[in-house]
Amino acid sequence: MEQESAQKPMICVKHLRKVYRVGDEKVVALGDINLEILRGQIVCIVGTSGSGKSTLLNQLAGLEKPTKGSVKIGKVNISRLSENQLAHFRQQRLGFVFQSYNLMPTMTALENVALPLVFKGVSKGTREKAALKMLAAVGLKKRAYHKPTQMSGGQQQRVGIARAFVAKPQVIFADEPTGNLDTKTTIEIMKMMVRFARKYKQTLIIVTHDPEIADYADRVITLIDGAITSDQTHKPIYDGTEPAKQEPLVLPPGTDQSPAPPALPGPAEQPDTDTILPEQAPPIPPEKPSDLSDKGEKSP
Ligand SMILES: Nc1ncnc2c1ncn2[C@@H]1O[C@H](COP(=O)(O)OP(=O)(O)OP(=O)(O)O)[C@@H](O)[C@H]1O
Ligand SMILES: [Mg+2]
Repeated sequence: MEQESAQKPMICVKHLRKVYRVGDEKVVALGDINLEILRGQIVCIVGTSGSGKSTLLNQLAGLEKPTKGSVKIGKVNISRLSENQLAHFRQQRLGFVFQSYNLMPTMTALENVALPLVFKGVSKGTREKAALKMLAAVGLKKRAYHKPTQMSGGQQQRVGIARAFVAKPQVIFADEPTGNLDTKTTIEIMKMMVRFARKYKQTLIIVTHDPEIADYADRVITLIDGAITSDQTHKPIYDGTEPAKQEPLVLPPGTDQSPAPPALPGPAEQPDTDTILPEQAPPIPPEKPSDLSDKGEKSP
C-alpha cells in the first residue's frame, strides 16, 4: 500500500512551453517539457545559467502561467486555476525555500516559521508550538525571538527551511537554496531538507548549478536551452534516516580516538515534526504580515 502510493506521480507535466516576450523579441525559456515526478522523490534540476531551471521550477509551482501545456500536482491541473485559486493552492499544498531566504524582516524567527500556519487558520497557541518545535528541529530554538538581521545567512536559511516544512506540504520547491552559503553550511542545509522530506515522503525539487547538491537527489534532470537533455536516477549520498552527522572530525595527530564520545550535538537536533500538522503547507514569498498581531513578544 505504502509502496504503491510512494510510486504515484506527484507532479505530471505535459508539453510545457514557456515563451517570454521582451519587446518584439521572443525568448523560448522552455520548449516542450514532459515530466513525471513521484511522491517522495528528491529531484535536482541542474543546468547552466539561462538554461531555464528557475522557469521550470516556477512553472511546476504555479508561480507563472505556461504559454502551452499543463502541470498537474496530485489531481489538480494547476494550469487551469485562476490566480486566486493558485495562491490558495500554494499556501495549502506547497512549500518554498529561496536563495535569499525571503524572511519577513520585521518578524522574529518564530513568527516567520509560524506564518504558513496563519494562512491555514491554525490557532495562535498551536502554531507557536509547532513553529518552536520546527525551530528546535533545525537547531535554532535559542534564536526563536531573533529577527532575520540578527542571524547569519545559514541561520536564516534554517528558518527558511523550518517555514517551508512546518505545515508538511506535499511538495517543497527550492531555487538555489544554498547559493549564498559556504560549503559546510550547504551540507548542513541539504541534509536537513533531505531528512525532513524523507520523514514524510514529501517531494523535494531543488534547482541548483552545484553538482555536489545533485549528489543528495534521487534524480537529476539536466536542462540545456529549455530542454531536458538528461534525466538520471541515482543513489543519493545521504538517505536522511540518521541524525545529521558532524562533518568528519579532524583530530590532531596522536589524539586517542578509541572511546567513542557521546554523539556530538549536530548542526541541528533530530527533526521531530510529529506534532506539527497533519498534511500540507506554507506560503510563498510572504506578501504581508497578515494577522500576526501576536508579534512583538519577547523572549520569556
Ligand atoms: N521574466 C522574464 N522575461 C523575459 N525573459 C526571461 C524572464 N525570465 C527568464 N527569462 C529568460 O528565460 C531563460 C531562462 O531563464 P531562467 O531564469 O529560467 O534561467 P536559469 O537556468 O534559472 O538561470 P540562472 O542559473 O542564471 O538562475 C533565459 O534566457 C532568461 O533570460
Ligand atoms: Mg535561476
